[in-house]
Amino acid sequence: MRAIANILIIIFILIKESVFFSLIGLLYSKKRDRAAYNIKLRNFGKALCNCLPKMGPAFVKLGQFISTRHDLVNHIICDELEHLQDKAPTVSFSKVKKILIQELSTTYDSIEIDQTPIAAASIAQVHRGRIIINGIQQEVAIKILRPNIKKKFVENIDMMMSIASFINRFINSAKKLRLEEVVGVIAETAKSELDMRIEAAAADKLRYNCKGREGIYIPKVFWDYITRSVLVMEWIDGNKINNLDTDQSKDIARKLAYNFFHQAYVDGFFHADIHPGNILVDKHNRIVLLDFGMFSYLPENDRVFVAEIIYAFIKKDYEKVSDLHFKAGYVPLEGSMYQRHMFALACRSIAGPIFGKSTAEISVSKLLRRLFEVASEFDMHTQPQLLLLQKNLMLLEGVLNLLDPGINMWLLVEPWFTEWATKNLNFISKLSRKYSQVVSNLEILEKKIRDNK
Ligand SMILES: Nc1ncnc2c1ncn2[C@@H]1O[C@H](COP(=O)(O)OP(=O)(O)O)[C@@H](O)[C@H]1O
Ligand SMILES: [Mg+2]
Repeated sequence: MRAIANILIIIFILIKESVFFSLIGLLYSKKRDRAAYNIKLRNFGKALCNCLPKMGPAFVKLGQFISTRHDLVNHIICDELEHLQDKAPTVSFSKVKKILIQELSTTYDSIEIDQTPIAAASIAQVHRGRIIINGIQQEVAIKILRPNIKKKFVENIDMMMSIASFINRFINSAKKLRLEEVVGVIAETAKSELDMRIEAAAADKLRYNCKGREGIYIPKVFWDYITRSVLVMEWIDGNKINNLDTDQSKDIARKLAYNFFHQAYVDGFFHADIHPGNILVDKHNRIVLLDFGMFSYLPENDRVFVAEIIYAFIKKDYEKVSDLHFKAGYVPLEGSMYQRHMFALACRSIAGPIFGKSTAEISVSKLLRRLFEVASEFDMHTQPQLLLLQKNLMLLEGVLNLLDPGINMWLLVEPWFTEWATKNLNFISKLSRKYSQVVSNLEILEKKIRDNK
């Protein structure tokens, strides 16, 4: 009954926001007239963009997630969805105060907060404020979750699941989209955004990892003021990246690329939402990252995998690219020799047009995107950590281009990456990784034997 009610609500919003109308326009237009068809696609994307925020916060996330899936959805629709603004009406100060009193209780008296927020998005709102630490006044940013957001999110996820299973049941061809799995990934990644204690912990971990590293700073979180809905962190007086002069821009682009690769490849833990709104530049010319709700791990195996495929691509060794996918188990192992060769050919078809160009024109994120598109045709299992890596590389390339038009991320990080690869892809380190894998498998086996005794 609830599933039917959910679907009726969604249908009502879709009609009201003309999504159905533009979808029908799209379905009945002729693909042969490319220009007219593209306009219809764009209109549909725009209608979706207007409608998703009205459906709720999880639908905004869904839209942002879909916008990175060029492998599943037409790129014009993806482009439109990329404009999905995460803006929402502000929560009144009296409500904000109520949350702070409820959650901070004793520490509330020692906090001073400006009434007007400096930012308001679909999940949280940020105010500037002050606290006293060891007798010294400290400027802070106070991030507060919107009231009842968790409940709304859960309701939204519930609605999405109903829609996904409805579509799966009635539209056979939609099964390939694995909608239920996608909704699951959204629910999983949102957990950290809906709990400020997790966001604070992610900020703290990143701050620890980046300590002493050149050109980057992560604001300190104040643990006495962190609760489920409230996060208080050091205020940063910084410039937005569109406010820099040319030399500074180039310098920041270099630091950003270098630091991102360091996070992903050395630490294996990276900020997964590097867009201009989440970056400031401080007076020491350091990048300051903000907003730690979205992060990801890149386990060592995946780091080596991505590095090896990029290397194999550059050496034009497509059989190797194919082998790597099968070995890592990303493409089902039962793949026959024929399938492996087909996959290798598909990889060559990705690389052909790209490598016809000079290295300066190669886009690593596009290369990975096409690779995942092809891999999904070969039934590659969804790998959320790789999707987040690719999504973030796409964001990063966008930011780097804003900072230094025409810049090439690959050329920028190539010397650093080569050094990393020589250390990590050589025979000895492969052997030691194999050794630790064998040891951990033996440990699992031993545990199983003990449990069965
Ligand atoms: N520590 C901080 N110092 C200064 N400004 C901040 C700080 N944290 C957040 N902001 C400002 O608030 C905005 C929104 O914060 P963010 O954490 O990105 O929230 P959201 O998750 O809603 O995007 C940022 O774009 C930035 O302008
Ligand atoms: Mg943000």
